Amino acid sequence: MELLGPAKPRWPWRHCLAGLLFQLLVAVCFFSYLRVYRDDATGSLMAVKPVTGAPNRSHCQDSTGTPARPTLLILLWTWPFNKPVALSRCSEMVPGTADCHITANRQVYPQADAVIVHHWDIMQNPSARLPPRTRPPGQRWVWFSMESPSHCWKLQALDGYFNLTMSYRRDSDIFTPYGWLEPWSGQPAHPPLNLSAKTQLVAWAVSNWNPQSARVRYYQTLQAHLKVDVYGRSHKPLPRGTMMETLSRYKFYLAFENSLHPDYITEKLWRNAMGAWAVPVVMGPSRSNYEKFLPPDAFIHVDDFQSPKDLAQYLQALDKDHARYLRYFRWRETLRPGFFSWARCFCQACWKLQQEPRYQTVRSIAAWFT
Ligand SMILES: *[C@@H]1O[C@H](CO)[C@@H](O)[C@H](O)[C@H]1NC(C)=O
Ligand SMILES: *[C@@H]1O[C@H](CO)[C@@H](O)[C@H](O)[C@H]1NC(C)=O
Ligand SMILES: *[C@@H]1O[C@H](CO)[C@@H](O)[C@H](O)[C@H]1NC(C)=O
Repeated sequence: MELLGPAKPRWPWRHCLAGLLFQLLVAVCFFSYLRVYRDDATGSLMAVKPVTGAPNRSHCQDSTGTPARPTLLILLWTWPFNKPVALSRCSEMVPGTADCHITANRQVYPQADAVIVHHWDIMQNPSARLPPRTRPPGQRWVWFSMESPSHCWKLQALDGYFNLTMSYRRDSDIFTPYGWLEPWSGQPAHPPLNLSAKTQLVAWAVSNWNPQSARVRYYQTLQAHLKVDVYGRSHKPLPRGTMMETLSRYKFYLAFENSLHPDYITEKLWRNAMGAWAVPVVMGPSRSNYEKFLPPDAFIHVDDFQSPKDLAQYLQALDKDHARYLRYFRWRETLRPGFFSWARCFCQACWKLQQEPRYQTVRSIAAWFT
């Protein structure tokens, strides 16, 4: 695109000034036509492309009326688990958010307004893997984990470095749950619940089979009273892409967490059970903790029963009583589940960092994240 200013002024200085102002305005418009995109291959901030479906003139007028907040530059210190993920425009992802520049290119560190550190990727050796301790003034560090404290090591090494926390815990500065329910007024059942397609009773997909764990021991007792189909490594195969189809044939899904911690309610419940329209049978934090996320009649908690045998009898009774089984879907008339994505997490961080320029230091993540 050519930058066309007015003809060089040859008139008195007032016109000259007006010309300069006009040029400035044109320049402002021009740059608002450009968006900085992450170069997928390198995570580099250098690739600049015009927006697809280019914004029109009203865009420019808006930005002259009310000065936009400065665009925040957010550095992902690592990609989560060192795997690049697709990012989204935050203004589309989280309503009320101005877009942030999000990149994993460490060269922008000196200019970054915030750095998000994914704990898993630095926990082997925090002192060597944290960002440089000489941080630019005003830069905020965000500690990020979706793993439970049972799988987060060396938290003590982080004392005093971070300004915000970001995790599945509700009391995080940036709360990024594995799933949530949102109001919904569309078709009550979407896709419609087809009870006759639910030909199987109980499924469980498990990748880490530890015979000593509470969940495996519970399962061992349960399966003596009730047939449970186990999927995963060294069990029934569950090829990628067929999971939802397979699980949706079941009436119940065992959403057993690998460790028990407040608010640690993962994709086992949200994606596997809710996503497949199977009623979740949960093992994790207390029932009252689950009820912070879900209506009481949206799930079955193992703690509701004296023993695995009692649970087995209850599930068998529900299997025969359709009306009673369908009560576990009533909440779907007004609510629907939303699911975690990395892109959304980073946009939530973008939103929060825009909202709150407050200065603070998290004295001890180790003392809080238990
Ligand atoms: C111009 O922008 C406005 C507001 O963003 C939008 O409603 C309108 O459809 C756009 N027009 C064109 C021609 O793109
Ligand atoms: C429900 O599932 C059964 C069995 O899979 C199938 O035959 C039937 O067509 C389905 N009904 C609807 C409305 O999808
Ligand atoms: C962030 O925490 C660091 C380390 O304690 C502190 O020096 C810095 O002032 C804090 N920055 C903000 C913006 O809160």
